[in-house]
Amino acid sequence: MDEVFETDSAIAGYLERVSMHQEISALRASALELLSVAPGERALDAGCGLGDMARRFAGLVGPDGSVIAVDVNPAMTAAAQKIHVTDPEAATVTYRVEDICSVEYPQAFDVVWCERVMQHVPDPDSAVQNMARMLSPGGRACVVDVDWEAFVVDGTDEAMTARVLDAFRAKLPQPAVGRTLRRRLVRAGLVDPVVRTVHPVLTSLAEAAAVIPVLDRRVSNSVPEADRTAWFDSLEEADARGEFMMALPIYMAFARKP
Ligand SMILES: C[S@@+](CC[C@H](N)C(=O)[O-])C[C@H]1O[C@@H](n2cnc3c(N)ncnc32)[C@H](O)[C@@H]1O
Repeated sequence: MDEVFETDSAIAGYLERVSMHQEISALRASALELLSVAPGERALDAGCGLGDMARRFAGLVGPDGSVIAVDVNPAMTAAAQKIHVTDPEAATVTYRVEDICSVEYPQAFDVVWCERVMQHVPDPDSAVQNMARMLSPGGRACVVDVDWEAFVVDGTDEAMTARVLDAFRAKLPQPAVGRTLRRRLVRAGLVDPVVRTVHPVLTSLAEAAAVIPVLDRRVSNSVPEADRTAWFDSLEEADARGEFMMALPIYMAFARKP
């Protein structure tokens, strides 16, 4: 189970809303341009969630290519499989329950994608090294993650905001991993690294709460019990005054295997 959400269906709802957000769409489009996935290639979606990118890769590699989508949570691979619609113009996607830190495939991949997973893993270097190991020579990797240490919420009481955000970050194994992705790819022996970011600034609480759990009253356990009511009330009051703002950098790091 996730560190923040209490149910698999809550995770799935969150993933679906994040995937539809324009900033994530922009970052994915920019990554796909760098990856330039070609027909016949083999792709791995590591930590696939609902498998959005696995399905994108299936269309790009076509019927002569192949896609494997893995997630450590069986509820995610099951949900991804349910959404999947077989397309004769696309590769078959094989969904598997695996841990990206230890999974081993005998075949090499041309493309490895790993989005917003590193914040959840205990040892991001070994996860990145494992993914780099599974790339074929010339293969490309793209890792995307958030920098929760640079997450800003404004308009609310500063002391309470600091307390609530610290408690939220403390739930995640790697809250600041976004800013470290480039060096982890380099450390894993990959070359020609490129880093791109999006930095969404949202001023509507409804829009922000749909994609950020700590701003969503329905995800109650993401906030310490003692602050819960005051926190969500103060967010709503700031929103009503037109003062609410949040900002969050999201990093994408690309590199290739020599
Ligand atoms: C925030 S979601 C992102 C899902 C998907 N990559 C996307 O961008 O929509 C993080 C996913 O990583 C999975 N995950 C976390 N740790 C993992 C691990 N060690 N191995 C494989 N999957 C993992 C979770 O189960 C979850 O589905």
